[in-house]
Amino acid sequence: MKKEKFYITTPIYYPSDKLHIGHAYCTVCTDAMARYMRMRGYDVMFLTGTDEHGQKIEDKAREAGKTPKQFVDDIVQGDRGVLDLWKLMNISNDRFIRTTDSYHVAAIQRIFRKMYDNGDIYKGKYVGKYCKPCESFWTESQLKDGKCPDCGREVVDAEEEAYFFRLSKYADRIRDLLENTDFLQPRSRVHEMINNFIKPGLEDLCVSRTSFTWGVPVDFDPGHVVYVWIDALFNYVTALGYMNDEYDDFDKYWPADVHFIGKEIVRFHSIIWPAMCMSVGIPLPKKVFGHGWLLLDGGKMSKSKGNVVDPYLLAERYGVDALRFFLLREFPFGSDGNFSNEALISRINIDLANSLGNLVSRTVAMVAKYFGGTLPESYDGKEAIDNELVEMAKGLRDVYQKQMDVYAFQNAIGEIFKVLGRANKYIDETEPWKLGKDPEKRERLARVMYNLLESVRICTVLLKPFMPESCEKIFSQIGAGDRTDWDSAATFGAMPLNVTVTKGEVIFPRIDMDKELETLNSLTAREPEVTSDPVLPDVSFEDFSKCDMRVCKVLECEAVKKSKKLLRFTLNDGSGTPRQILSGIAQFYKPEELVGKTLVAIPNLPPRKMMGLDSCGMLLSAAKEEGGEEKLHLVMLDDSIPAGYKIC
Ligand code: ME8
Repeated sequence: MKKEKFYITTPIYYPSDKLHIGHAYCTVCTDAMARYMRMRGYDVMFLTGTDEHGQKIEDKAREAGKTPKQFVDDIVQGDRGVLDLWKLMNISNDRFIRTTDSYHVAAIQRIFRKMYDNGDIYKGKYVGKYCKPCESFWTESQLKDGKCPDCGREVVDAEEEAYFFRLSKYADRIRDLLENTDFLQPRSRVHEMINNFIKPGLEDLCVSRTSFTWGVPVDFDPGHVVYVWIDALFNYVTALGYMNDEYDDFDKYWPADVHFIGKEIVRFHSIIWPAMCMSVGIPLPKKVFGHGWLLLDGGKMSKSKGNVVDPYLLAERYGVDALRFFLLREFPFGSDGNFSNEALISRINIDLANSLGNLVSRTVAMVAKYFGGTLPESYDGKEAIDNELVEMAKGLRDVYQKQMDVYAFQNAIGEIFKVLGRANKYIDETEPWKLGKDPEKRERLARVMYNLLESVRICTVLLKPFMPESCEKIFSQIGAGDRTDWDSAATFGAMPLNVTVTKGEVIFPRIDMDKELETLNSLTAREPEVTSDPVLPDVSFEDFSKCDMRVCKVLECEAVKKSKKLLRFTLNDGSGTPRQILSGIAQFYKPEELVGKTLVAIPNLPPRKMMGLDSCGMLLSAAKEEGGEEKLHLVMLDDSIPAGYKIC
């Protein structure tokens, strides 16, 4: 019989050798789903890969003194690159795409031309705003308080020739897709998309760049490279052979059954991607699931914040399966979750060492002790007290499947642990150590052991997608033989009555929480790693000296009404006339704490109106983007420096 197909993808990752446990999260969840569907008998295609073009890579390669291709090769294939991490995490992807693979590059060129030929891509003029330091174009409506939404700096008027994709043409169909189907999940993400992007109106998307070269060249217009997100999103089909001869299973696997992605890239996957599928005339992916973030100390784990957790360290200490299990068991897939060492160790101790590991080793030890490792060939010994456990174990596959089919990994595992909990209770109820002392109760004891082994077996079959290697070890200890497949999980009594167990290693050793936390906390003590923007091109000394930077004292400071960001400063700049400057730092300082402080201002900038008030100059601050947000620290000087001193 022909197997039904199941095509599942992760996002393709930016090349990095600093991948953290948050990065591993999405791919571990995807891997669990792929393994689950394979176990169910589906013909699974699980795709992952790397997203290797774009200006950031070009800049970083230049800094590293390498060509961009050398740079990405070294990272992707190198120590702690993405391939290394997937090996560590036991990821079972069927295919791996790199957007620098030549078949993909050629396919993107054909796709771009196809959309150009069908009129969905047109050449136009980008008239908008340009942020020089970020080398990014913005429309008026994308600016934040009139400034670059990425770095918060001033933008200038810009005009550049560029290609555009007619995203606006698809607005109604996309809205319908989001509102009236279950294409995008969880449902909360639909409201975000509708309110933030669809309702304000979809504008055509600028899909080519001329300011850098590290991308897929537009073959009919040299100088333009294809926007990196167009290049990236089409990976899901080029990796199957769409518009190329490298593979030929597009017809077999497309449309994708589900794209698993992080919540911050839902817009690209639920608006731009389906619109482009519509444009090139391929079916839409069936589902997009936007999972939550792993947080540390309440903030998104990210390497620029330095709050990352190292998967290599944890896997080495506790084993990859324990780590995989923790990620899937602890956090609801659609929501954010806070990572902590305590939670990890508790889960290992409570679920793995106690509920599962202890149950396995106790049961195996009792079968060895009372029966020399092999249960008798025939026995009955059934009692009414067995029914609850037997029924729960028999029904487990169904309840588990309901949860897995909606990607509720946490709940699916929860169902398994209900049965494991019931089995542990069954040992207390049946008191096998008493039965073992009574020769008349031998049949009863054998039945109790058998029920325990069968319950463990069924639970372990269903745990396989999460902890593949540990489950194999359990199967060999309990003598499951080949009764480890999906069908066998619905049958209580699949193992022969005279099953033979084999004592083995402790699969999940218990951890001394206090001692371990101390060690772990010292090993993971974090130094924030600050990565900075590249140094800007030189300016002449003459130009620099036109900028009047001077010491100012804060005379008054108050919040500007109706503005969340602005503070209004009255400053003594040494000129004898108080100077008013507005600065967008209200999120970071209380006005009263700034009065009397010694700051640095540039007073000779043209005045600007903000919220109806004049701002005559600018205060200097140290700025950094963290987790998509700008963080600012005012430059403050020693209070002994008088107002009006020049900074030179
Ligand atoms: O976004 N918690 O690549 P990427 C959970 N190249 N998930 C996290 C996370 C965290 N703390 N940090 C990162 C890209 N991720 C694009 C995708 S697809 C056509 C192009 C997840 O390397 C993030 O949400 O920045 C994303 O799903 C994945 O890691 C790759 O992120």
